[in-house]
Amino acid sequence: MVQLCSTIASVRLLCRCRGKIPRVSVLVGEGRGTVRRLQTSAHRRTVMPAWVIDKYGSNEVLRFTKNANFPIINYPNEVIVKVHAAALNPLDVSMRGGYGAATFHMMRDPLNIKQTGSEFPLILGRDVSGVIMECGLNVTYYRPGDEVWAAIPPWKQGSLAEFVVLSGNEVSHKPRTMDHLQAAAIPYVAATAWSALVTTGGLTKDNCPKKRILIIGASGGVGTFAIQMVKAWGAHVTAVCSQNAEGLVRGLGADHVVDYTAGPPEDQLKALDKFDLILDNVGGGTEKWALDLLRSWSGAKYITMVTPFLRNTDALGIADGMMRTGVTVATKMFKHLSQGRHYRWGFFAPSGRALDEVAEMVDAGQIRPIVEHQFSFAQVPQAFQQLERGHARGKTVVNVLQGGPQ
Ligand SMILES: NC(=O)c1ccc[n+]([C@@H]2O[C@H](COP(=O)([O-])OP(=O)(O)OC[C@H]3O[C@@H](n4cnc5c(N)ncnc54)[C@H](OP(=O)(O)O)[C@@H]3O)[C@@H](O)[C@H]2O)c1
Repeated sequence: MVQLCSTIASVRLLCRCRGKIPRVSVLVGEGRGTVRRLQTSAHRRTVMPAWVIDKYGSNEVLRFTKNANFPIINYPNEVIVKVHAAALNPLDVSMRGGYGAATFHMMRDPLNIKQTGSEFPLILGRDVSGVIMECGLNVTYYRPGDEVWAAIPPWKQGSLAEFVVLSGNEVSHKPRTMDHLQAAAIPYVAATAWSALVTTGGLTKDNCPKKRILIIGASGGVGTFAIQMVKAWGAHVTAVCSQNAEGLVRGLGADHVVDYTAGPPEDQLKALDKFDLILDNVGGGTEKWALDLLRSWSGAKYITMVTPFLRNTDALGIADGMMRTGVTVATKMFKHLSQGRHYRWGFFAPSGRALDEVAEMVDAGQIRPIVEHQFSFAQVPQAFQQLERGHARGKTVVNVLQGGPQ
């Protein structure tokens, strides 16, 4: 089956060079004597509109083209999604400037098979909400026409395009109660918060009730999702944000709010009961005081989303960067373990399964999208500028169906 799929992919690849793809018809045995006829579409398109970058830099490197490569299914578990809405994250601004280039380059082509030596033209955009257009041969969970959402791994081409190809296990059925624009605000921050809180932090629906959780940087994309998720699971939440975000985080369920602009937040936080888990979306100086706020010898965890991993691999290369990263995290883990608390780094991890659970929470009214700004497809550079101004109160979404430049 894998061989067959790659044969079809190769046929498409060959035909792409000639500008269009003819109908390809193949008979496939499905066991017990049944036979399925597979067809690719006639006159399949080979290009699509997209915002790309051809080099790293500031906003002027963003370029609109109608001739970006149309995505192709290379593996039998992949799907092509027609993008209805995309969203931007701080990572997109950083990636536009070259952040993470060394690691993402390695992830794109681990065995250096492609040997093109270049990731350009690169399409940014980590969130997608849209409709399945085509499925690989092993995809049984989705059908063309299904409404889906996904968080796109940073080493894959992003959602600032008409179509995107993803692995079936990165995709999930979109919540029924949200439109595409609202849905696009959630997957990347949800997958990140899920990975940090559930996979790294060990939280579950069942062990969360009555846990005291501190969220630093509570008013941004990851923070606003994390508050809603752990509140839905019954935790007590203390949120650190600036004063003008207090209404937002209280509206999402935060039980206690600390304004970091009114003075050192640690002074107010020290007066409170100790915490079972801290999610730090700010990093830097917070590490110096935050771990003292954890209960000792009780399994309490500090998880920071701000790590030097990608910076190290960019500066030192993959091998030395990973070595330095390993030494740094191991040193901190052992130091804090000896004081009875756990120190961890949190990372985004794509997961359709996590998004399935998030979709249920959304449809149950437990999670709502926090859309701060909305732009048309023509306004992608303005969306980046908005994100660069900082002070996020939720997500910046892009309506890909509205207004591509002519
Ligand atoms: N490791 C990973 O895989 C991974 C994945 C996703 C995100 N991240 C990182 O996680 C962080 C959060 O991501 P995000 O998408 O939520 O970013 P975001 O939307 O920009 O939110 C950051 C929030 O932090 C607040 N803030 C800034 N300084 C603060 C301080 N001293 N104390 C408390 N709050 C402060 C900001 O609010 P104000 O406007 O009030 O300052 C803003 O709302 C980013 O650094 C991002 O790069 C890492």
